[in-house]
Amino acid sequence: MGALKVTATAPGVVKLFGEHAVVYGKPAIAMAINKGIKVTVEESRGNSLVIFAKDLEVKGVAIRVTGDSIEGSVINDGQLSKLASYALTALRIISGKYGGDLRGIRVIIESQLPIGAGLATSAAVSVATAAAYARLINVKLSKEDIAKVGHSVELTVQGAASPMDTAVSSIGGVMYIKPGVEFKRLSTSFKIPLVVGYVERELTTGELVKRVKALYDKYPKVIEDIMNSIGAITDEAVTALSKGDYVTLGELMNINQGLLEALGVSNHRLSSIIYMARKAGALGAKLSGGGGGGAMIALAPGVEDKVAVAVKLAGGEVILIDVDHEGVHVEDYS
Ligand code: MEV
Repeated sequence: MGALKVTATAPGVVKLFGEHAVVYGKPAIAMAINKGIKVTVEESRGNSLVIFAKDLEVKGVAIRVTGDSIEGSVINDGQLSKLASYALTALRIISGKYGGDLRGIRVIIESQLPIGAGLATSAAVSVATAAAYARLINVKLSKEDIAKVGHSVELTVQGAASPMDTAVSSIGGVMYIKPGVEFKRLSTSFKIPLVVGYVERELTTGELVKRVKALYDKYPKVIEDIMNSIGAITDEAVTALSKGDYVTLGELMNINQGLLEALGVSNHRLSSIIYMARKAGALGAKLSGGGGGGAMIALAPGVEDKVAVAVKLAGGEVILIDVDHEGVHVEDYS
């Protein structure tokens, strides 16, 4: 063992362009945000592995793992037990690959973001847990290595996931992602004045990815064209981002939203806050992430406050965010 207690903080992620299409190999642009998940991993007495999770609204969850059996007491929220399973899988993948005895480990998860709203909290938990536990057992991993472990965690827990969320949460900044081909950081000398809103979620990302696949299987030609168009939007957006061309970015966001609606991944409440944001002066607004409720982003230079009020009036919650340039950040207390 190296340190006795390590904390890792990993940012949440908003998707500027390309969610869902990225699952089919099309490019996407995502941005790490300055709010995320903090995971503390420490040695504790006894030979159980205990995971506690707590966030702003929910009291917490404690899961005790002894050998292969998991006992959990979930307080209030099934979402938290899901988060704990991402943490547990991250611990198992790291200890399976690099050694490390999971008995006598305590994990505490704290969130500055609503869990499961489409802001990549599961990716952030996977990344932060992997980074913290690797440091605890003295294994040096680059941010790219941590991103890969994070992606394996998501694949293990939810079956399908693109590498986008875990890469951006681990590395930080604004990234252009073309799975298997290219991951590059985009220069962001311009501010990206976004308002993030969210509503309750009806379906999980996994369920929505499955729905889109069913639609693809039924109408392959139609859906293939939609995916290609989303990819083309993302490529246009790279140029607009490099010039700080907000008007073009806004228009591209609106077209992207139309295509996400066509894929059936928005819903009434989410679309309502998107339309209200536009009405209040946002240059563009679209859902961000898996959809089915959950998060939206509005590009609102100079009218952030007005747009935030409109989103609230339409029944959404608002989070103020900025870009995070650092990605996962590890501190040890030994
Ligand atoms: C979820 O944040 C984004 C999706 O494209 C799924 C994925 O990329 O794994 C819907």
